[in-house]
Amino acid sequence: MALKALAVAAIGVAMSLAVGIDSAKAADKLVALKVVDETSIPKSLTGNAGDAKNGRKLAIHRKKGNCLACHKMPIPDQQFHGTIGPDLAGVGSRYSAAELRLRLVNPKVVNEDTIMPSFYRNTGYTAVLKKFKGKTVVAAQDVEDMVAYLMTLK
Ligand code: HEC
Repeated sequence: MALKALAVAAIGVAMSLAVGIDSAKAADKLVALKVVDETSIPKSLTGNAGDAKNGRKLAIHRKKGNCLACHKMPIPDQQFHGTIGPDLAGVGSRYSAAELRLRLVNPKVVNEDTIMPSFYRNTGYTAVLKKFKGKTVVAAQDVEDMVAYLMTLK
């Protein structure tokens, strides 16, 4: 148990490092977003539809989504799937796009104890380096692209 907690903490640190460095580039002007009923964000962050193909790339990218660090995904050509979070196979049937959007933007709204990173939240980090303040992990359109990809996982 202690070992698992340690492993999780180590991944957290590795993630924030990998993610922090990249976020400097990924930062775009923060868009306003509206969380509804603490369960979903119905409106696209950018007003544009997501590109599922690009979303798949971002999700497996080790410095962008890096979802495989914690999740198993139906992508057999990728090695080393994580086991900390649930398997993402079929996630597009279990959730709506609006629910998935909130999960990516800020999963702490759904579960405040989650270790899943907030990919588009700019406040509330406990130890954020000054130069990354106000920066998000990925850009708003990146969130939309990943939501579009997750919706293909039926
Ligand atoms: C540091 C580990 C970690 C990373 C990285 C991570 N997640 Fe998660 N994720 C979790 C955990 C743990 C849960 C379980 C629910 C919770 O903690 O609230 C979860 C839950 C989810 C859920 C809900 C799944 C379900 O069946 O209920 C989705 C969807 C999801 N993650 C998508 C993603 C995507 C997409 C990425 C990459 C962009 C990602 N996660 C990156 C840890 C992670």
